[in-house]
Amino acid sequence: MSVSQLLDSHYSVRAFRKESVDDKLIQSIFTSAQQSPSNCNTQPWQTYVASGKTKDKLAQALVELIMSGAQPNPEFNWHVAYQGVHRERQFGSANALYSSMGIAREDKQARQMAMLRNWQFFDAPHVVFFAMEKYLDIMGSVDVGIYAQTVALLMADNNIDYCFQGALGMYPDPVKNILGIPDEVGILFGMSFGYADDSAAANNTRTVRENLESSVYFFN
Ligand SMILES: Cc1cc2nc3c(=O)[nH]c(=O)nc-3n(C[C@H](O)[C@H](O)[C@H](O)COP(=O)(O)O)c2cc1C
Repeated sequence: MSVSQLLDSHYSVRAFRKESVDDKLIQSIFTSAQQSPSNCNTQPWQTYVASGKTKDKLAQALVELIMSGAQPNPEFNWHVAYQGVHRERQFGSANALYSSMGIAREDKQARQMAMLRNWQFFDAPHVVFFAMEKYLDIMGSVDVGIYAQTVALLMADNNIDYCFQGALGMYPDPVKNILGIPDEVGILFGMSFGYADDSAAANNTRTVRENLESSVYFFN
């Protein structure tokens, strides 16, 4: 498929089948993604891919921590309070997800349970954490963002489904502990990946994009 076709057919997948992605294919995707551009070729991404028992251990530790009432302690600034159109779009995407899952707006408990699915990696067979040395701040996060989208496009090109998850940077402690991530490295976000469970209601979620004129300004 062309890149435009991949983008046209994109949507985030939030329910996966158990079937794993072939190990060699995973290796080849992350090998190709090494070609991503970065500022001064610094290549700041530190990428942790977990599957099998390690992935299960991560999900168990995260869910236990969250159910114990722990507060999020992200290593980067994920606390932006969206304003104006950004806030509207944020609500729009949440509404799209909850209405496809048949969850009413006022059903706080069902929404919390749906949110918890993030830390169960939506039952995906694999999860990747995108990290970098903390001191790099916004400079590094730009590069890691570009790198992560490169990974996503490579996945899509190989019929692998995924969901980016800021939620996976919210409780870094058990993840860093289990994966042995050094203190000076911070987790920015993560992504669950595998093959979509097409029978799951969550995967009927679709979002829309603004028209070109609202975001892109051309000059001659
Ligand atoms: C950096 C980033 C973080 C995201 N975090 C989450 C998340 O924690 N949980 C989730 O379900 N979706 C998350 N998403 C997916 C977005 O909600 C989704 O991309 C957006 O609503 C547009 O929908 P679409 O991807 O289906 O087109 C994230 C996406 C990005 C790029």
